[in-house]
Amino acid sequence: MTINVDSDTCTRCGICSEVCPLSVIGPVDEETLPRVAEGRSGMCISCGHCEAFCPTGALTQSFADESQTGSQRETCGEISPDNLGIYLKSRRSIRKYRPEPVGKETIEALLDVARYAASGGNGQPVEWLVIRDPKEVQKVAGLTIEWMRELANSNHPMSGYVPHLIAAWERGSDIICRGAPHLLIPNIPEESPIAPTDAIIALTTVDIAAPAFGLGTCWAGFVAMASRSYRPLQDYYALPKGRIPAYAMMFGYPRHTPHLIPRRNPLKVTWR
Ligand SMILES: Cc1cc2nc3c(=O)[nH]c(=O)nc-3n(C[C@H](O)[C@H](O)[C@H](O)COP(=O)(O)O)c2cc1C
Repeated sequence: MTINVDSDTCTRCGICSEVCPLSVIGPVDEETLPRVAEGRSGMCISCGHCEAFCPTGALTQSFADESQTGSQRETCGEISPDNLGIYLKSRRSIRKYRPEPVGKETIEALLDVARYAASGGNGQPVEWLVIRDPKEVQKVAGLTIEWMRELANSNHPMSGYVPHLIAAWERGSDIICRGAPHLLIPNIPEESPIAPTDAIIALTTVDIAAPAFGLGTCWAGFVAMASRSYRPLQDYYALPKGRIPAYAMMFGYPRHTPHLIPRRNPLKVTWR
C-alpha cells in the first residue's frame, strides 16, 4: 500500500495517522507529511480510513487490490436519531409478497449498500447467490422440506416440530419461503472463523436497507438450517469450491404495509 499526499492541501492535522487501525501511517507533525511507517505497508487492511477521514481530501491511497470500487464524497446530510429510529423500528419481516419481480438493477443497488458493511479485518468475504426465479425459490423450499423429512425420525432438536411444517407444505402452504419471489444466499469461505459473522452483518445491512428500496425481506431460518447440512441443497446452490452458504433471506415487493411499530420487550441493560 502506498499513499499520495498533496503537500499544498495537507494541513498536517495527523488525523490519517490517528484513525489508521494498524498504525500503518506514521505520526504527523508540522514538518512531517503523512507517510507509510517503516515496514508497516504490508499491514494495511485497505479500510480506506486514511482517505475517508482526511478533512481536506489531501490523501489518496493506492490499494494493493485496485479492483475495489465505490469511494464517494457525497454525504446524506443529517439523519436525526428520531428519524433513523423510526425507520429502523418500522422494519418488519414480510411474509406476503406481490408477484412482480424486483429488477436486477434494484437488487444490485441494494447489495451494493452491503459492500460497505463492517467485516473482520476488512476481509469483505461475503459473496451473494441471488435466486431470482420464483420457481427456483420453490425448489429451495421443496429441498428444505426434504431435509425436514429426514429429521422427522431423528433426535434432531427440530424433529418434533417438522411434521407440522411438512403437513402445512403438503396442504399447499409455503411456510418455508412464504411465496417470496426471490431468495438471497450470502456465501463465505468455508474455513474462515470470522466470515459467518461478516455474512450476518452484511445480510442485516440488506435487511435494513431494503425498505428504502421499497422492498420487504424475511430471514429464512429453515432454509438456512437446511443449507448448513443438507447436501442436496448445497449441491443445488453449486457455489464455487470452498464457499459455503452462510444464511438465507427472502425478499420482494411487500403486499401489505405496517401502520404502526409493534410493541417489544422493555430494554434490559446491565450497567457496570
Ligand atoms: C435468524 C432469524 C431467522 C428467522 N427465520 C424465519 C423463518 O424461517 N420464517 C419466518 O417466517 N420468519 C423468520 N424470521 C422472522 C422472525 O420471526 C421475526 O424477525 C420476528 O417474529 C420479529 O418480527 P419482525 O422481524 O417483523 O420485527 C427469522 C428471523 C431471524 C432473525
